Amino acid sequence: MKINNICCIGAGYVGGPTMAIIAQKNPDINVYVVDVNQEKINRWNSSDLENLPVYEPGLAEVVSSVRGKNLFFSTDIDKNIRESEMIFISVNTPTKTYGDGKGMAADLTYVELCARKIAEVSRTDKIIVEKSTLPVKTAAAIKNIVDETGNGVNFQILSNPEFLAEGTAMRDLEVPDRVLIGGEQTESGKKAIELLVEIYSSWVPKSNILTTNLWSSELSKLSANAFLAQRISSVNSLSELCEKTGANIDEVSKAIGMDSRIGSKFLKSSVGFGGSCFQKDILNLVYISKSLGLNEVADYWNQVIIINDHQKRRFGNNILKSLHGTVANKKITFFGWAFKKNTNDSRESAAIYVAKQLLNEKAILQIYDPKVSEKQILSDLKNLNVDMDFINNKKVICLNNPYDAVGDSHAIAILTEWDEFIDYDWKKIFEKMKKPAFIFDGRNILDRESVENVGFVYKGIGN
Ligand code: NAD
Ligand code: UDX
Repeated sequence: MKINNICCIGAGYVGGPTMAIIAQKNPDINVYVVDVNQEKINRWNSSDLENLPVYEPGLAEVVSSVRGKNLFFSTDIDKNIRESEMIFISVNTPTKTYGDGKGMAADLTYVELCARKIAEVSRTDKIIVEKSTLPVKTAAAIKNIVDETGNGVNFQILSNPEFLAEGTAMRDLEVPDRVLIGGEQTESGKKAIELLVEIYSSWVPKSNILTTNLWSSELSKLSANAFLAQRISSVNSLSELCEKTGANIDEVSKAIGMDSRIGSKFLKSSVGFGGSCFQKDILNLVYISKSLGLNEVADYWNQVIIINDHQKRRFGNNILKSLHGTVANKKITFFGWAFKKNTNDSRESAAIYVAKQLLNEKAILQIYDPKVSEKQILSDLKNLNVDMDFINNKKVICLNNPYDAVGDSHAIAILTEWDEFIDYDWKKIFEKMKKPAFIFDGRNILDRESVENVGFVYKGIGN
């Protein structure tokens, strides 16, 4: 088999950027990214590159260099599956909100729909690549579905989890620490692995392409996310201890991170991790462990989530306590809504949880984020069952300019570490606020001394 055409089902944060890079690096392969969401596909095809559905530094440039040449976005799912030799499944796998495993297990509905669709329309042999993050053993379920409902063609299943982080996706794809490919350890399984290795080796050194069995690959993805999130919860748990003892969490992080066995990355204390992956994947790991009767293992990983929830709540409580125990009818300005900088993604952002907590205390929120739209902010609150009366009664106000957003407010809460916040005219901001004016820096990005010199009361995390 030779790979001339690739189809990727799911044009989201992973499917779009990943396929853009695969297309750019493999000009002889046509790459078709398909999705059920017509509006999203229209935006991927839009001539206005500012309007792509995903904001990632450097993405628009890559898309514009290959779109219409060997990268195509379409809603014609059947045709593009049928005409491709290799099909990536890159659809969402959120936490289940119903039935068995509700609130913990991964919802595999969309993945199963893809498997059934591939089986239904395929007339020639296909390699199916799991790009979505999936529970260990999912490849076996996909294989059963396609073999039982297919037209007698052969399917090979590979696991090729994605390790990109949002905000740095293009760099992560260009120079990945590793590419992981798991497959069946049979002759045809190994051939399929080789075909995918060939695609990546157009730009990734072979020494960085790791091949394993299917289950190791599936489990490694959940494990990597659990490890990363565990580091953040570890440092966040220590931040509370710092606040009680006079230690400074940034100094502690630096001191422990200089130990080469520990390493300095992913030790930044914060208001809590967000994003669509960490919580979902740890819950899934906990669920799998519990299902296998491994209760101690489940409890161990669950603690990462417990600390993260505690950190978000603690941040809101600190605002409440500092403002004399009540925020009712007080204006609080949020700087940042995205779950991290350099993305327009707000899924599971700590900002949403802190907002809900403060709205329940009857605060008025003035929100500014450089990339997240008002529509998205209101939809995030609605999805978290925030009382819509708050929104109808203008308790949530989204503003396009940070200097307008601080008008008459008692406090600023920094929820995202956008670089532009550091460069603001903090003196001008101070003058527009009620006094005493507070800054609750949920990302420890501001220089304490400079903002205190302007007149602010500064409260960082863990100091
Ligand atoms: P996303 O929600 O941005 O995109 C998923 C897309 O799939 C949506 O556009 C949706 O319309 C489409 N879709 C769903 N069902 C479909 C179907 N049956 N047919 C066609 N299209 C369908 O999700 P994402 O953030 O790109 O994540 C995708 C997967 O990758 C998840 O499993 C996630 O855990 C994993 N992952 C995400 C990241 C990340 O940073 N976002 C990183 C690594 C791995
Ligand atoms: C994560 C993984 O990093 C990536 O490998 C995987 O493919 C998808 O999940 P992502 O969620 O996009 O990526 O971003 P990441 O940089 O991991 O940040 C996740 C959250 O942790 C953000 O809210 C971030 O602000 C927070 N964080 C990160 C901290 O609070 N402290 C840190 O030191 C690092």
